[in-house]
Amino acid sequence: MTTSFTHLTSIRGQVAVVTGGTAGIGAGCTRRFAREGATAIALGRDAAKGEAMVAELRAEGHDAHFLACDCADEAEVDATSKAILDRWGRVDILCNIAGGWIEHPPIEEVTNAALHHSFEWNIVSKVLITQRFVPAMKANGYGRIVMMSSTTGRRGRMGAALQYSTMQAGTIGLTRRLAVELAPYGIAVNCIAPGTTLTPRARRHSDERLAATARTIPVGRLGTEDELAHAIWYLCTPGAGFTIGAVLDVNGGNWTG
Ligand SMILES: NC(=O)c1ccc[n+]([C@@H]2O[C@H](COP(=O)([O-])OP(=O)(O)OC[C@H]3O[C@@H](n4cnc5c(N)ncnc54)[C@H](OP(=O)(O)O)[C@@H]3O)[C@@H](O)[C@H]2O)c1
Repeated sequence: MTTSFTHLTSIRGQVAVVTGGTAGIGAGCTRRFAREGATAIALGRDAAKGEAMVAELRAEGHDAHFLACDCADEAEVDATSKAILDRWGRVDILCNIAGGWIEHPPIEEVTNAALHHSFEWNIVSKVLITQRFVPAMKANGYGRIVMMSSTTGRRGRMGAALQYSTMQAGTIGLTRRLAVELAPYGIAVNCIAPGTTLTPRARRHSDERLAATARTIPVGRLGTEDELAHAIWYLCTPGAGFTIGAVLDVNGGNWTG
């Protein structure tokens, strides 16, 4: 089967999978895709949170689903990707949003375990599920894949963990390499690099710290989940077929290259 989506901006009827799609930027994507008329499938580890999030979208009449999956766990990714392909038969959009960091100690205190954990959480999680869906995308001659990076992968910033910044820069390499491999199959792979965005994760910081961060942003505030989802939505539209291996910086002017 070859899929041909010709409308530049419509993702209506497409099947969209969002890893980490149950909170923050990922939830913004799940909501946006569902409201655009796609089948939106959110993956996350906490089933109660995920079920509550998609219940809201279903109450609005949208086609939203939650599947519990730790995207860094190969067995769980195997089972979940199989369940998705068995039920929906295809995946048109894959947003690899799951990831994060916990602490940011100086280099002397970064443990080998922390390095490996960050690699599993931010890189392996993206590669595993992408591997599982690429064959179906190739068979359809169509796909949109977005990788989550960060401004911290673009420039040095002390407030982020060393291992996290390293993985976010690595995600950009992953994106560029995969983009040239998959472009001939109608699959566009791109990357989003957000600045600080007001999500549950960001809200763990004090109001003072968030206000100080906002003062470093020319727009004068933090980003919103909906603004990030809007930028990601563009990369997931049929019209983004000539946008290949790009890094889209969405940071209110905090870093402009
Ligand atoms: N917020 C920012 O300022 C910012 C800036 C740049 C980049 N980012 C990146 O954007 C992504 C989302 O950030 P956020 O601030 O929206 O985070 P968040 O508020 O903590 O939400 C993260 C979401 O991902 C899920 N998740 C985390 N690890 C997962 C895993 N291994 N498998 C499946 N689901 C997982 C979480 O649900 P469960 O815990 O239930 O699994 C949750 O739904 C992260 O990769 C982060 O590094 C964020």
